[in-house]
Amino acid sequence: MTVPLTVTLGDPDGLLLRPWTAQDAQALLAVAGDPELRARLLTLKVADRADADRWLQAQRHGWEQGVRFSFAVLTGDRLAGQVVLKRPDPASDTGEVGYWTAAAARGQGVASRAAELLTDWALSAHALRRLELYHAVDNSASCRVAQKAGYPLEAELPPQPRWPDPGHLHVRER
Ligand SMILES: CC(C)(COP(=O)(O)OP(=O)(O)OC[C@H]1O[C@@H](n2cnc3c(N)ncnc32)[C@H](O)[C@@H]1OP(=O)(O)O)[C@@H](O)C(=O)NCCC(=O)NCCS
Repeated sequence: MTVPLTVTLGDPDGLLLRPWTAQDAQALLAVAGDPELRARLLTLKVADRADADRWLQAQRHGWEQGVRFSFAVLTGDRLAGQVVLKRPDPASDTGEVGYWTAAAARGQGVASRAAELLTDWALSAHALRRLELYHAVDNSASCRVAQKAGYPLEAELPPQPRWPDPGHLHVRER
């Protein structure tokens, strides 16, 4: 399936989701140093401009390969976070959703609204049947976002190589 890199999603309250561009490097760098992001996200290690350029290139590559659909989330013209649909096996009808928000944008419903928009798009444009969402058990804010976006808790997971801490699996079925 080919999904154009021009897709944008939005809601009436002014939240905008669009694919990352090379011009986002400075804004990404400005938010990525947040200690909470550094502690929670193993794949967002952005300490300088070269890291930011590499990360943005990887997001673009994910779109081109059809395995990772990563959106910058904006409120007005400010970078507020990211939501991503991962499809490591494009033949599967299961996908995984992830998100983070910039420290200054938290507690305003950004992650849950962005996750809802991404979910609607994943279920319709990709015709997926099952969307999974993982978070560490102690990440209560992420647990709440999952619930608000319509992903009930399906399972408690023991630590495993991918995650050193116990986790929650939340699932949304079509
Ligand atoms: C988790 C995260 C994405 C939430 O983003 P956000 O934009 O603040 O989320 P929302 O505003 O949509 O919702 C947050 C909810 O969590 C609640 N919350 C926040 N901190 C909490 C805490 N410590 N314990 C319980 N609930 C908490 C908020 O009250 C809100 O719920 P409410 O609307 O019912 O009041 C953000 O904190 C983040 O980026 N954290 C670091 C990266 C991360 O953990 N990503 C997820 C990896 S699985």
